[in-house]
Amino acid sequence: MKASEQAATAWRRSGTRGFCVALACAGALLPLGPSAAEDGSPIFGVHIPDGYRHWELIAPSHETGEFNELRGILGNPIAVRAYEEGRLPFPDGTILVKLAWKREPSSEFSGAFVPGRPTTVQLMVKDARRYADTGGWGFGRFIAGRAVDRAQHEACFPCHQASVRDHDYVFTRFAP
Ligand code: HEC
Repeated sequence: MKASEQAATAWRRSGTRGFCVALACAGALLPLGPSAAEDGSPIFGVHIPDGYRHWELIAPSHETGEFNELRGILGNPIAVRAYEEGRLPFPDGTILVKLAWKREPSSEFSGAFVPGRPTTVQLMVKDARRYADTGGWGFGRFIAGRAVDRAQHEACFPCHQASVRDHDYVFTRFAP
């Protein structure tokens, strides 16, 4: 369930509904309703797409150090086809999602590491015209379904640009 839906459900359960009519109702809905969540990420207006959790795995990754995270990078069907065809730049409509979890030792098997608590969901959405200033990519970083602040979104493109300019600003290669 999306955060906005959760908020709406919580609000419904709270039973305040019976008291709200017409304008008062709109006012009551605003703080919990679609506004914040539906604007998407700052700068780019990127959203977490429905159904992304069923997309194909492009590759896993592991970051040591402070993050100490396991990641899974998923792609929508347009992304998967572009990878298969070795197509660069990625076409409009490509969406890449990076899921991340804390890396935890398995409690059941020594030496195995497993995903712990989820940390972030990050997205790159290709729209060459709309995002012309950032290599054609719109970025979104979400924690518990909520987009993080503008400053963090300003950092996305410069790092991708510095390292993977020659791969359409995308780090992840397909893991066969
Ligand atoms: C300091 C460098 C750096 C910054 C800043 C950064 N990234 Fe990345 N990003 C990476 C690296 C390295 C990878 C490769 C995979 C991994 O780390 O798991 C990556 C991978 C990704 C991927 C998977 C596609 C790909 O390029 O491999 C997405 C989606 C993504 N980042 C989104 C974001 C978003 C959104 C932001 C800003 C909120 C951001 N990144 C900021 C370094 C960065």
